[in-house]
Amino acid sequence: MSVSKSSVSSADKRKILVTCALPYANGSIHLGHLLEHIQTDIWVRFQRMRGHETYFVCADDAHGTPIMLKAQELGVTPEEMIAGVRDEHMADFADFHISFDNYHSTHSDENKAFAEEIYNRLHAKGHIKTRTISQLYDPEKGMFLPDRFVKGTCPKCKSEDQNGDSCDNCGETYSPTEVLNPRSVVSGATPVLRDSEHYFFDLPAFGEMLQEWTRSGSLQEEMANKLGEWFESGLQQWDISRDAPYFGFEIPNAPGKYFYVWLDAPIGYMGSFKNLCDKTGIDFDAFWKLDSDAELYHFIGKDIIYFHSLFWPAMLEGAGYRKPTSVYAHGFVTVNGAKMSKSKGTFIKGRTYLEHLNPEYLRYYYAAKLTSRIDDLDLNLEDFAQRVNSDLVGKVVNIASRCASFITKRFDGMLSTNIDDQALADEVMAAGDSIAAHYESRDFGRGMREIMALADKVNEYIAVKEPWQLVKDETKQQEVQDICSLGINMFRTLMIYLKPVLPVLADSTAAFLNDELIWEGHKTLLTDHKINKFKALLQRVDMDKVNAMTDASKENLSSKAEETKAKKADKKKSKKSEPKQELTGKPLVDDPISEEIQFDDFAKVDLRIVKIVNAEHVEKADKLLKLTLSLDSEEGGETRQVFAGIKSAYQPEDLIGKHTVMVANLAPRKMRFGMSEGMVLAAGPGGKDLWILNPDDGAQPGMRVK
Ligand code: MSP
Ligand code: ZN
Repeated sequence: MSVSKSSVSSADKRKILVTCALPYANGSIHLGHLLEHIQTDIWVRFQRMRGHETYFVCADDAHGTPIMLKAQELGVTPEEMIAGVRDEHMADFADFHISFDNYHSTHSDENKAFAEEIYNRLHAKGHIKTRTISQLYDPEKGMFLPDRFVKGTCPKCKSEDQNGDSCDNCGETYSPTEVLNPRSVVSGATPVLRDSEHYFFDLPAFGEMLQEWTRSGSLQEEMANKLGEWFESGLQQWDISRDAPYFGFEIPNAPGKYFYVWLDAPIGYMGSFKNLCDKTGIDFDAFWKLDSDAELYHFIGKDIIYFHSLFWPAMLEGAGYRKPTSVYAHGFVTVNGAKMSKSKGTFIKGRTYLEHLNPEYLRYYYAAKLTSRIDDLDLNLEDFAQRVNSDLVGKVVNIASRCASFITKRFDGMLSTNIDDQALADEVMAAGDSIAAHYESRDFGRGMREIMALADKVNEYIAVKEPWQLVKDETKQQEVQDICSLGINMFRTLMIYLKPVLPVLADSTAAFLNDELIWEGHKTLLTDHKINKFKALLQRVDMDKVNAMTDASKENLSSKAEETKAKKADKKKSKKSEPKQELTGKPLVDDPISEEIQFDDFAKVDLRIVKIVNAEHVEKADKLLKLTLSLDSEEGGETRQVFAGIKSAYQPEDLIGKHTVMVANLAPRKMRFGMSEGMVLAAGPGGKDLWILNPDDGAQPGMRVK
């Protein structure tokens, strides 16, 4: 029998563009992000299976102050950093089988062009206002400070070391200018107030349009309610500019002013889709022009509803583009009933999960617990193992493993032409419509429950029929073939239903059954059809591996935490007492390679070329020379005093005028003979055999060693 591959006629074929929120390019993908990507991917795979023209795009969100500062900290350019993070994110998503059509970056030509175009159109229509505002400024670093980069004492309860916008101790929220004894997290300097002209998007001008859009009926009820509250408390102008230095796009005709990251982030949806269109020939305008008949959906977390349901539709409206068909928000993932926690090992990165467990376990568990509402979702790890084992292994795959070997061993892999229990077959096949409706409305949990209830019925049927008993009776062979053939067929129908959730299991099922598992196949049965030898399709979840995963999530952290503790303790020690060991450090020759450090540890060390402008003996010190090092090629520039344990190898007069390498950002140490403000690098076993590093003449004092 031939079935059309698509379940819709061309008249019913929808054009659908779907996005996930763009993950920030300064951190790893964790199980919280994955809820969103898995939810969206299931929905997208379902739509594709039903024959709709569906595209799924995402990108990294690459701009903003935290990304700029993180790159500086790592000693790389922001461009280098975001390229590396994007590769990491793409690999993580691919391994969770997230089927993007495109994964781009907001730091792209396409995005820049759209951001400028949208801004210019808004500006031309008078929707951009300017106003001078006063903000905290870090005079040392030369930059304005976002709230989270200011710390200080809470103005209310006086608790110290609180964030610039809220107090962890008493819960008070305030403006960073109200913080007592404020300091910049970036440099430690005391911030000062400074004026600057900012650009604002006139959101209140779109109030009426937004209210109407909210009533369009396609928003979740909770979201519509939330929007209602925001309308009531009044819409505010939105500050869309940031002053240099900033990693982002410069605002047209506003030198030194940059688009705030949240302005060009949602535009990144367009940028990524445009990039896809240019590669494949898809018609961009068909999806974005004002009267487009395509559907546009954004899947997001509940924390970013404001941006997607107010600013974004207003920007699109103001710039003459279509608005989203809907914005679907989900809740937050908790693990074992609590916020993901680094110390409990429940802040689990996607990569750590993949090192221990099959990604389809998580896809199924999330599907089984997802609703169309904004509720939080608890990943209870015991329940996770139990649910996956009982549903997928114990119910679904069990059907195949109970029936397959009879068919392959006794009937040469042929499914019979008879349908042993037509009523059961009809019931399982007829469920397709209601399961499809659950997928469509994102009620995946309901869909999974319906599928598992059918699996229970099929297992019951097999248990009652007992083919393993019948097989012993030579006259009952046809019955055995019929029962097991129906079992295999029901397994196939259930795997068609599960295919959006379990694409890999569906692929191995397809290979086993010699059948493509297209959606429309749920209405048919395979009769007189040859199947292949059954191989184990899915392993049970092993709780030991789950525990190993949380241990590994803890380990990363605890070793780091211990390191920092140890470092702090060291610092304190060195402040209190003189260092016993003098400053040569241990000779490295013959030493095993030391403990592995991360690139950012290395990047913290500021190595500089210096000129030894003076060297002298130190009274009563038998190993030390006192060096004066110039960090400047001009005379009279910055100098440092360093005590170096190289007396056994050098006469002071032989050192003067030489260039060498120093650690310029080592915390100063008070020694018996005075302050030592850094360290010079030397190599050799010690005694006479000790050489300070002596760079080529081209290297001038002050140059950074990289
Ligand atoms: N870069 C912005 C989004 C810009 S969209 C134009 C951002 N990035 S994020 O990396 O912080 O978050 C990306 C998505 O992951 C958001 O939808 C956020 O809600 C979601 N989640 C982050 N942590 C989460 C959980 N613990 N649980 C569920 N989703 C979570 O926001
Ligand atoms: Zn407080």
